[in-house]
Amino acid sequence: MKLNKLHAALFAALIASGSAFAQSPIVIKFSHVVANDTPKGKGAVRFKELAEKATNGRVKVEVYPNSTLYKDKEELEALQLGSVQMLAPSLAKFGPLGVKEFEVFDLPYIFPSREVLYRVTEGPIGKSLFKKLESKGISGLAYWDNGFKDMTANKPLHKPADFRGLKMRIQSSKVLDAQFRALGANPQVMAFSEVYQALQTGVVDGTENTPSNIYTQKMHEVQSNMTVSKHGYIGYAVIVNKKFWDGLPPDIRTALEGAMKDATKYTNAIAQQENEQALENIKKAGKTNVYVLNDNERAEWRKALLPVQTQMADRIGKDLINAVNKESAALGYK
Ligand code: LMR
Repeated sequence: MKLNKLHAALFAALIASGSAFAQSPIVIKFSHVVANDTPKGKGAVRFKELAEKATNGRVKVEVYPNSTLYKDKEELEALQLGSVQMLAPSLAKFGPLGVKEFEVFDLPYIFPSREVLYRVTEGPIGKSLFKKLESKGISGLAYWDNGFKDMTANKPLHKPADFRGLKMRIQSSKVLDAQFRALGANPQVMAFSEVYQALQTGVVDGTENTPSNIYTQKMHEVQSNMTVSKHGYIGYAVIVNKKFWDGLPPDIRTALEGAMKDATKYTNAIAQQENEQALENIKKAGKTNVYVLNDNERAEWRKALLPVQTQMADRIGKDLINAVNKESAALGYK
């Protein structure tokens, strides 16, 4: 009798632990390098909320912002190893992975408007770029917007000649390297998490980024001058470890795809306004002289930087550049 009771108790405990195991959620670690209060930061949090709701808690999304888990280069390696499941690196950071075509997004003045950009990211070009990630063990889920870049330094940057000899921090893109060389500057690749300190200590003289990144990293506090130039673009590819993603139960994957679709809509809807607000905040902080290029100066910058498109055509692929330009032409830009 006693023994029977013991068996029953053991059996009950086994069932309980078994069902607890069945209920333990699938964890998605989503690592990124920017602040929560940016388009990407907010998009990641929105995805977490939507994903957990859509899967009734069967999936738990842990968001690690601000390089708390991994820095730029490390995070891509971590994704391939399966140490994290989801990332949203800047499109300028795929070159070292061997997928240099993403650098088309870095070409100066390649996107005359956000509408052209969306035709590229949401159309066949965006899809074909994601295909290139598969052999690296990575699947692309969505393109998230940030915005157009401005320049900062500790001196006025009105003309291309003002860049001569400056050490400028760049993301790991050969196109960005060529861009700054075209201006006579010395580009230096550096992880995003290290930029503030490098600017503060003079390891580099200046940088380029979107107002939301400049403001949330406090770069404006250590840069006396900012030029609103909008000479190039920063956006993201939301990517996952392919093996992990393909191995998910199909109903879970479908629910997560829906959550990603909605989080993408949200992120892309807020990006422009977030950057406009950040620019206002930089001005209000009063530490940085914010200068907007006039028409003549803009024309001079274009003249200096447009040749980078031709110069990098062999690396990126002429067909790809032509295809992007066709999307511009379809919207009436020449
Ligand atoms: C940078 O490294 O400058 C940024 O692109 C970081 C980011 O993810 O926006």
